[in-house]
Amino acid sequence: MNVRITRADESRLRACHEVFLDSPLYDHYFTQEGRLDSLLADGIARRELWVALTAQDEVAGCMWMEPDGFFGAFPYLALLGVKKSFRGMGIGHTLVETFIGVSRSLGYRKCSLLVSHFNPRTKNLYQSLGFKKVGYVPDCILPGIHENIMVKDL
Ligand SMILES: CC(C)(COP(=O)(O)OP(=O)(O)OC[C@H]1O[C@@H](n2cnc3c(N)ncnc32)[C@H](O)[C@@H]1OP(=O)(O)O)[C@@H](O)C(=O)NCCC(=O)NCCS
Repeated sequence: MNVRITRADESRLRACHEVFLDSPLYDHYFTQEGRLDSLLADGIARRELWVALTAQDEVAGCMWMEPDGFFGAFPYLALLGVKKSFRGMGIGHTLVETFIGVSRSLGYRKCSLLVSHFNPRTKNLYQSLGFKKVGYVPDCILPGIHENIMVKDL
């Protein structure tokens, strides 16, 4: 499905929140009141949150690209989501490909992301786009949730 990727502003916050509903990611990380919104607001304030818009200007997906988020060394994809009604249509691919393209155009040799142990299909998606697992951090961001560190050579 064709989408237009553009920087998010405050007016998109609610729609970005909705992108993450109905997902294991939401259930594991964002049931605490205000947690997701404060993260999204932070991403918007830093001008690092991007949305995938349909032809009708609906937010179908969103991502947070931190240009030097991997220990200051290279870009890190801090958040990625596609709204439930748009999943499985290629929008996730498009967003990750955009992240890869932006990382490359900024002159970096690598880009990175984390994917949780409960998200094997998403790990497959990243592997199909050239990301390789370089590490595993038990109890990484929250206790009981383990993260795979994935890096792609550009
Ligand atoms: C993971 C996610 C961003 C993928 O976006 P998408 O637009 O559905 O993905 P695409 O259509 O481009 O590609 C589909 C591939 O994504 C993966 N995938 C993971 N979860 C999926 C889901 N719930 N529905 C469809 N595909 C999913 C599969 O590997 C699938 O490949 P397959 O068709 O061979 O099984 C989306 O499913 C989502 O928002 N999930 C909830 C939030 C999340 O887990 N984010 C990632 C955090 S690391």
